[in-house]
Amino acid sequence: MAKWIQGTVVDNIHWTENLFSLKIDADVDSFTAGQFTSLALDIDGKRIARPYSYLSSPDQQPIEFFFYTAVDGLLSNAMVKLKVGDSIWVKQQANGYFVLDEVPGADELWMLGTGTGVAPFFSILHTEEVWQRFKRIVLVHAVRTEADLRYQELVQALTEKYADRFRFQAFVSREVCPGTITGRVPAAIEDGSLEDALGLQLDTVRSQIMLCGNPDMVKDCTEILKARGFTKNRRRTPGHITVENYW
Ligand SMILES: Cc1cc2nc3c(=O)[nH]c(=O)nc-3n(C[C@H](O)[C@H](O)[C@H](O)COP(=O)(O)OP(=O)(O)OC[C@H]3O[C@@H](n4cnc5c(N)ncnc54)[C@H](O)[C@@H]3O)c2cc1C
Ligand SMILES: NC(=O)c1ccc[n+]([C@@H]2O[C@H](COP(=O)([O-])OP(=O)(O)OC[C@H]3O[C@@H](n4cnc5c(N)ncnc54)[C@H](OP(=O)(O)O)[C@@H]3O)[C@@H](O)[C@H]2O)c1
Repeated sequence: MAKWIQGTVVDNIHWTENLFSLKIDADVDSFTAGQFTSLALDIDGKRIARPYSYLSSPDQQPIEFFFYTAVDGLLSNAMVKLKVGDSIWVKQQANGYFVLDEVPGADELWMLGTGTGVAPFFSILHTEEVWQRFKRIVLVHAVRTEADLRYQELVQALTEKYADRFRFQAFVSREVCPGTITGRVPAAIEDGSLEDALGLQLDTVRSQIMLCGNPDMVKDCTEILKARGFTKNRRRTPGHITVENYW
């Protein structure tokens, strides 16, 4: 069984009232970009643990995670209060199959995430492998409000480094925000507005798609993509869609 190790909080960034990131010093085992580990705190004598995707890439220290404080959420509302120097339990070994090894080869990789579901994509985008395997990469980050649109500095750095090989599109659903698509991702796949905005077409030969975050977004996108001929990736029957549901 994977071992708990003690990590030390080196930064707690409060982006908004209910969105934050933790940077943690912890001697974790090597992991694959896209995987998650478990974080835990001892609350009222009980160890409360939940899975969290690495936002940092395997060669980055400290390790980093991006959180939403769930309404009445036990662990997220305790972690948001952590201060620099506080301890947090981290599972030494990572888990999960939301990794490039599970994604068949193609020209283009589309990464679609809601909320904190963008985290594993940043981990993957900071590896050399993803740029060796795909000619072009699209990152879509869908959030409720403009204030939820974090890590834009990473998006900017990727745009500068990879130029036309990297395309980013933000969705903001609950306010109108210039430079973003207003609404939800599945509708914009269905009516073609996402592809129009990016100047790239989803194609069953050229495209692989990774979906992460809100399970309703994952489900709705999968249904719309299936109607266009895309299929889910399974070990024995490779397809086009690889998913990670956060709840
Ligand atoms: C593979 C994986 C990776 C994940 N990565 C991240 C990440 O990087 N960042 C992040 O913020 N979260 C992530 N999550 C979600 C995370 O594990 C917790 O579910 C979340 O932080 C809520 O925990 P909590 O203890 O605060 O709330 P809980 O005490 O577990 O629940 C609070 C209330 O919210 C509802 N609830 C419970 N769980 C969920 C849920 N997951 N979603 C919506 N409502 C819920 C319940 O009705 C409950 O009353 C991930 C989940 C999975 C499965
Ligand atoms: N983010 C997490 O990791 C996490 C973890 C646990 C719990 N939660 C819970 O999720 C809630 C808020 O989290 P959040 O704002 O980060 O994420 P969210 O509610 O999933 O919203 C993020 C984006 O996903 C969109 N969306 C919702 N349903 C969709 C669907 N069926 N198809 C396509 N897009 C869809 C939202 O659009 P709309 O504005 O139109 O809904 C919004 O633009 C809280 O109640 C929190 O407790 C989040």
